[in-house]
Amino acid sequence: MNPAPSPLPPFHDSLDASFFEVWRLLQEGPRLRRNAFHMPALATVDAHGQSQVRTVVLREADPATGRLRFHCDRRSAKAAEIEASGRAALHGYDTATKIQIRVAGSARLHTDDALAEAAWAGSRIMSRTCYGIAPAPGTALPTGGAYTQPEDGADLDLSRANFCAVVVTAERLDFLFLDRRGHRRAGWARGEAGCGEAGWTGTWLAP
Ligand SMILES: Cc1cc2nc3c(=O)[nH]c(=O)nc-3n(C[C@H](O)[C@H](O)[C@H](O)COP(=O)(O)O)c2cc1C
Repeated sequence: MNPAPSPLPPFHDSLDASFFEVWRLLQEGPRLRRNAFHMPALATVDAHGQSQVRTVVLREADPATGRLRFHCDRRSAKAAEIEASGRAALHGYDTATKIQIRVAGSARLHTDDALAEAAWAGSRIMSRTCYGIAPAPGTALPTGGAYTQPEDGADLDLSRANFCAVVVTAERLDFLFLDRRGHRRAGWARGEAGCGEAGWTGTWLAP
């Protein structure tokens, strides 16, 4: 006998509940290692118009402001691409919930302000040492191991100089839930004047 099908999730036919689910998963991401939104893919466009994508660790997602934060080396290609375009997108697919979330919006580097200081203060020593890598990320090396990274306990001033926090302010959200009884896709956009959850307008979309 086939097992009884699991009940459809409460957001299945509620656009508002789907919106809530998007932010619930994004907010959980930084805390829960198993949530796909712990390590979303970050997309940018480089100087040649070529799309670039790579994994980052999501540090914070705030539904009230629509902001998502991750950290990177300010010498990295992604930092240059974000600085040049002011745009970025994030993507994750959570196999447990069968939900894909795509976020697109403006993006800004924070290197020396209070936000960057707080992000640096809140990061682990082990993570901090990564920003002291020499030569800079992406530099061609004669052998795979021809780079240095500060030892534990080393002065991390240089690492701090290379550290930056990136804040993506979501302007578009795309939600896709897969279920053979009926896929659900929804999208939300936030107008320029939009601030906080009230600024979003959403619609169901054909999956
Ligand atoms: C599991 C995982 C987590 C990562 N987290 C970050 C991160 O939080 N920030 C970051 O800059 N790079 C992170 N990386 C490395 C990037 O994916 C990428 O390889 C590197 O930063 C160079 O990217 P770029 O040349 O596009 O700047 C992570 C990679 C993996 C595999």
